[in-house]
Amino acid sequence: MISKAIKVELRYLNETLNFLKEKGILNRNLKIRKDGNIAYIPVLNEIEGMETLEMDFETIEKIKSYREFLNLSKEIIDELPKSYDIIGDIIIIKLKNDFLKYSNEIGEALLKFHKNMKTVALDLGVQGELRIRNLKVIAGDGLDTIHKENGIRIFVNPGESYFSPRLASERMRVLNKVKDGETIIDMFCGVGPFSILIGKNRNVKIYAIDKNEKAIGYLKKSIEINKINNVFPIAGDVKEKIDELPLADRIIMDLPFYSMNFLDLALKKSKKGGIIHIYVITENEDEILEQFKTKFNIMEKGIVHGYSPKENLFYFDLQVK
Ligand SMILES: C[S@@+](CC[C@H](N)C(=O)[O-])C[C@H]1O[C@@H](n2cnc3c(N)ncnc32)[C@H](O)[C@@H]1O
Repeated sequence: MISKAIKVELRYLNETLNFLKEKGILNRNLKIRKDGNIAYIPVLNEIEGMETLEMDFETIEKIKSYREFLNLSKEIIDELPKSYDIIGDIIIIKLKNDFLKYSNEIGEALLKFHKNMKTVALDLGVQGELRIRNLKVIAGDGLDTIHKENGIRIFVNPGESYFSPRLASERMRVLNKVKDGETIIDMFCGVGPFSILIGKNRNVKIYAIDKNEKAIGYLKKSIEINKINNVFPIAGDVKEKIDELPLADRIIMDLPFYSMNFLDLALKKSKKGGIIHIYVITENEDEILEQFKTKFNIMEKGIVHGYSPKENLFYFDLQVK
């Protein structure tokens, strides 16, 4: 491919490259040519004070997916997932049963493609009341990590406590509703991403409850590294712990399969006019809305993301009448 180029002695190659990168003029898609002690560097524009040539360069083949590192048939490669979750430096991928036998190769290919990741784990589904993900490590080692999101750092081990990076924009949406001075209860906080984000950005008091003691342990570490002092972690069942708490201006209920069972509890703990952010997985939005009608005004609602071919994860912002 023909490109503008500059000519330098090899001994000045590194410093010239640094200069061109800094100025954003290096043409990164083309290979540098060398001839004896001379290098020809492809550039995007002319540079004042330097002679610019025009010459032919080979293009650099860019690897666009982990799938290009696999030694499997095209039919199999075409069916492998193009997307996966990333939590800190851990990749979490789902594979169809037919492809489980290639797990280790796929794991290694992902680590080769994502050089800054340390572990690849196979997602075998979320289970039980504590919503813990069954993960099998298929490449690399270790599931403790720090996930960065919306300017905060979250300690998490996704094999010991629930965490979904797909809720990042939803957490931001909720933060934008919160005002200084509020008392907030995060009823099913997990490792506390809602609480940490709000605590870091608002002058509020947040009581963050979770039945999973390990999740609360991670939350305590996040409170420390994010240097906040307005989030109060509580390990235990919300049904037993909530009585000790003051009435709230805002309650977050992120337990999408069972949250409706706790709505009366949240209502009892809300101030009049208080806001409840409740998350529900359902295929029938109207049936859920019907249950809010008498006691709440519906301030906002929508889909966070799809969950299964028929079901979606919905958010409802409710105001206590
Ligand atoms: C979907 S996860 C919460 C995720 C979290 N809000 C986030 O943004 O990552 C639901 C959490 O509820 C907790 N949980 C389930 N039943 C509970 C209960 N009765 N009391 C307190 N926590 C409970 C689980 O341990 C789990 O961590």
